Amino acid sequence: MLKLPEKVEIIEVGPRDGLQNEKSFVPTEVKKEFIYALKNAGLKEMELTSFVSPKWVPQMGDAAEIVSDCLDSSTRNIVLAPNKKGIERVYMTDCKAVAVFVGVSNTFNLKNINKTTEESLAELAPLIAELKAKDYFVRACISTSFYCPYEGKIDEDAVLALCEEFVQAGVDELSVADTIGMAAPHESYSLFTKLKHSFPDLLLTAHFHDTRKLALANIFAALQAGITRFDTSAGGLGGCPFAPGAAGNAATEDVAYMLHRMGIDTGVDLDKLLQAIEIIKPHISRPIESTYFRMNSVSV
Ligand code: HMG
Ligand code: MG
Repeated sequence: MLKLPEKVEIIEVGPRDGLQNEKSFVPTEVKKEFIYALKNAGLKEMELTSFVSPKWVPQMGDAAEIVSDCLDSSTRNIVLAPNKKGIERVYMTDCKAVAVFVGVSNTFNLKNINKTTEESLAELAPLIAELKAKDYFVRACISTSFYCPYEGKIDEDAVLALCEEFVQAGVDELSVADTIGMAAPHESYSLFTKLKHSFPDLLLTAHFHDTRKLALANIFAALQAGITRFDTSAGGLGGCPFAPGAAGNAATEDVAYMLHRMGIDTGVDLDKLLQAIEIIKPHISRPIESTYFRMNSVSV
């Protein structure tokens, strides 16, 4: 029997993952309008921005302004922070949900955060404990959980061991990522089955990039493994500047369409989502390639 839950939670990562790889600065006012429109489309959990070094990722240099204008109590607004300095910047805002991130692959972590995986973990574990003591929601994004652009195939046991460290540190959620979009559905099913078995009571989320057009299949495989939370990006925007070859995330509209067709509720209003994509479309450097957008947008 297929596993088709009544409801799936979609975590919109377009304003963060979707925009961080854009070379030309997207005006802050446009980002805010995009975020408001996404919220209006029913997206209740969202990564708004990231408190990373503006020298490394200039596109995220307006994080403080985005957060000060886009927080609202009816939505879980998440911001990324890679280190102590990033979390100190979060403390200066009213945002109460933080995502830390780390790569299973050491080489990727060095390229992305300038630390080994072990150094990142050592820095983050006490910071997570502090965030939890202050009643923050904490998620850990686990990058290169299937393949690494530098190290190749990643061992499932290494992913499970790193996830265990973050669970011990006290995170509320693990977002397990196929950073370069190289996983195949049997790998998605296998890893998420093991994660679900190891962490039955934790919020477990799957984060697929769509480089090889397998994101939807991987999401369906993860759904069969019992996962009911997915990171997606409006318009299929996205990619990590330090992961060569990474294309955009699974498109929110394609994922929501597939789930709705199977009778699964996501809370997403697809017409309003198309309106949100129209806001960001003129400011991004590549065409919107999601199938739902191509078939339904008035501007195509
Ligand atoms: P570093 O150069 O090693 O940092 O970068 P440092 O600690 O040596 O500090 C150097 C300077 O940066 C100092 O300033 C610090 O104050 C400043 P200076 O004294 O030279 O004026 N600094 C900061 N400024 C603002 N915010 C901060 C911060 N930290 C230090 N948080 C660092 C280390 C981690 C900062 C850098 O490597 C960085 O910002 N990396 C972020 C890379 C990134 O954003 N990657 C994309 C997000 S992850 C992703 O997309 C994957 C995901 O989607 C899942 C998946 O698909 O896999 C989540
Ligand atoms: Mg990503």
